[in-house]
Amino acid sequence: MKTAIERAAARRVWDSRGRPTIEVEIALANGARGRAIAPAGASTGSGEAVDLRDGGAALGGMDVRKAMAGFSAEIAPALAGLDASDQKAIDRRLIELDGTPNKGRLGGNALIATSMAVAHAAAAGGGLPLWQYLAGGRAPGRVPLPEIQIFGGGAHAGRRIDIQDLMVVAVGAEDFATALDWTAEVYRAAGKLLAEQGKLAGVADEGGFWPVFSSNEEALSTLLGAIERAGFRPGEDMAISLDIAASEFGKNGRYRLDREDRTLSRDEMVDMLLGWCKRYPVVSIEDPLAEDDEEGLIAFTRAAGATMQIIGDDFLVTNAARVRHAATVGACNAVLIKPNQAGTLTETKAALDAAREAGYSAVVSARSGETEDVTVVHLAVGWGVPQLKVGSFTRSERMAKWNEGLRLSEVLPTGGALPSRSSLPWGRP
Ligand code: PGA
Ligand code: ZN
Repeated sequence: MKTAIERAAARRVWDSRGRPTIEVEIALANGARGRAIAPAGASTGSGEAVDLRDGGAALGGMDVRKAMAGFSAEIAPALAGLDASDQKAIDRRLIELDGTPNKGRLGGNALIATSMAVAHAAAAGGGLPLWQYLAGGRAPGRVPLPEIQIFGGGAHAGRRIDIQDLMVVAVGAEDFATALDWTAEVYRAAGKLLAEQGKLAGVADEGGFWPVFSSNEEALSTLLGAIERAGFRPGEDMAISLDIAASEFGKNGRYRLDREDRTLSRDEMVDMLLGWCKRYPVVSIEDPLAEDDEEGLIAFTRAAGATMQIIGDDFLVTNAARVRHAATVGACNAVLIKPNQAGTLTETKAALDAAREAGYSAVVSARSGETEDVTVVHLAVGWGVPQLKVGSFTRSERMAKWNEGLRLSEVLPTGGALPSRSSLPWGRP
């Protein structure tokens, strides 16, 4: 069998936060090779596949030598001779081998790097780019609409503001390249604004500015100012997308806004967010309430879901069963798709399929700890996911993904055309 796995090896490499992570390399009998690197989250959902880290004092406990050892002792031997083109069987084997519900024994990091590397090798073995291999016989997708971070906060920026991501979406752009051009202008304008106001403190984990704001809403008004200063019509050319990441500061229906020194009830939190959505051109909002606050998510979706996108990240953790449950109760109308939350590509795709079945939209997402690995871009294009979120518009672990989108724009028969806005929750007629 030409696509049989002949060799599987792991390499300890480094991520964008200067922490160790795992790269897996797969070689097939026909000489094809594939490799992939595990990313890492900081504001993780409690239902995610967990990474195996060493603990202890060295490198803040974040080393991955145990995961490397498990790979060599168990994963590599189990893969030998398996057919790389049967992704489902490979992933089933990985899940069985780990044997835990959260993949903590061998590590979600070891598993996702392996699962993605196998897909890369199988694609290479068939002489196809990954996106095309993943698309199978289906018509080629379009490049996804990018959501790009301008300001970082929350767990990614020393909690200078409570909410985590303030992003822009080029809702009026004709194609992918234009969406990037416009974002670059907003990013520059935002930098200038912050510098003039003396509010520029640093750069957050995903490359967005890390501002000194006195309230969460000030971040929103400054972003609106940056869109206008760059010469765009708010809401028509450039809109705002937020990741509240509310699980980081909310529990049991109470929300602690440290920046503003106040604690909100569930209802007050919903009202605050609805107020922002009224005053600013917000088209998408992720994790508006905490992962344990289904009641709040249902209330927010009922109030705003008809006109905007409400994404579950920590709440849905790229899990098909959770997506199906959310659809039943009416919480959120879109799912964030992060492969390492699921732990294997097969489970990631199952979450996407569940979303489609439920009429939910989807956004493929990178993590706050990233590398030069561009697999997520191929997943979005190959699986026909209409949106992509990989952080800001600086730093090469982010730009590698946007640049890969430009390359795919050239080779896709659809060119750089973006998905029709009317197919998205906020653009639906
Ligand atoms: P994380 O952040 O990778 O730290 O979880 C990204 C997000 O919350 O979407
Ligand atoms: Zn998130």
